[in-house]
Amino acid sequence: MNRIDKELQKLASFSATPNPSVTRIVYSEEDMEARAYFITLCENIGLKVRVDVIGNTFARWEGSQPDLAPVGTGSHIDAIPESGQYDGTVGVFGGLEAIRVLKESGYSPKRSIEILLFTSEEPTRFGIGCLGSRMLSGQLTPENAEKLIDTENNSLKQNLERVNFNTDLSSVKLPKNYYNAFVELHIEQGPILEAENLDIGIVTMIAAPSSLGVQIVGQGGHAGCVLMPKRKDAGCAAAEIALAVESIAQNSASDNTVATTGIFNIKPGAVNSIPKEAYLEIDLRDTFIETRDKALNDVQDKIKEISNRRGVTSNVKLLNCDPPAICAENLVNTVENVTKNLGYSYKKMISHAYHDSLFMAQICPTTMIFIPCRDGLSHHPDEYSSPEQIHKGVQTLALSLKALSE
Ligand code: GLV
Ligand code: MN
Ligand code: MN
Ligand code: MN
Repeated sequence: MNRIDKELQKLASFSATPNPSVTRIVYSEEDMEARAYFITLCENIGLKVRVDVIGNTFARWEGSQPDLAPVGTGSHIDAIPESGQYDGTVGVFGGLEAIRVLKESGYSPKRSIEILLFTSEEPTRFGIGCLGSRMLSGQLTPENAEKLIDTENNSLKQNLERVNFNTDLSSVKLPKNYYNAFVELHIEQGPILEAENLDIGIVTMIAAPSSLGVQIVGQGGHAGCVLMPKRKDAGCAAAEIALAVESIAQNSASDNTVATTGIFNIKPGAVNSIPKEAYLEIDLRDTFIETRDKALNDVQDKIKEISNRRGVTSNVKLLNCDPPAICAENLVNTVENVTKNLGYSYKKMISHAYHDSLFMAQICPTTMIFIPCRDGLSHHPDEYSSPEQIHKGVQTLALSLKALSE
């Protein structure tokens, strides 16, 4: 087994659930162990490591002109519950491998090259994705970050104290154009590259994500004794909302509108008790901001209509609503040239998943390199990219970083 495959396997062992599934929630014991492992590997090859107060980790290979803006690469290592071994991790450890390969070839960069391990790309703990890159780009201000509450009712600052990080959030934001270029390597998480038998995807755009939290309060009671005309069943209202969400996405004018009710909780959760409360989280995305926003409005109107008709109250919170990212043409061209020179098959494509690059694109020229994953599967224990696919991604990344740093 080669270096990066071994490292990805070791990384997968830092998991709260047994492999092949991986669960690594930000600031958990497993996350902290995985971070320490990554830092040791970086220091072993002489990279200078800096960790900001929320845990974004920068590992720099200093160039011969260290005052020039560096070239950045990286991704995340947090993993949603019972997911796989490759989402994000290929971009972080692939960045490290790319630097090692370049060092071993005798290359010495003019611009510094920096790996960035982003804190909490996944929304699991705090309910919003891309915590690290949102703060780096200034899209999430320190004041708003302080208001974040996690699934255990702890604030971001309480989490930072627990893991012994500093809590002065004002120092996280990066200056605009801190990087001269940023390139993130990632598995596609969809079926296109595999279906078309392609080695590499070059990302030209990242779809616009948004999400809503919906708290529904109805009236509980005895499942046998409250006759149907008297019911205010919060669970049924939630179910009707989830179906409306699906239908709004299906009937959108854009083929790329997708909507998912991925969190659906009811209380008290007893078979002979009418649900008195429900909580939903709805994820809604599109490549076009107009149709995304229209669908978002339609969902909110429908929630009002269903709640009024059913006599329940609903409280809707917009958790995030972000614009799409347009990737930098010069970087797309650079990666395309590298891919052609390597003789790899490729296509330019849209990322329907969001990534930290969505926010990096707001402060510096950005693109992404995708590699195929088996059956397009991701956020699943069977997620898999082969050593050969990873190798091609790393080579493409390495030579792109070289072209951008010389
Ligand atoms: C990333 O995890 C996404 O949800 O797109
Ligand atoms: Mn993910
Ligand atoms: Mn990811
Ligand atoms: Mn993610």
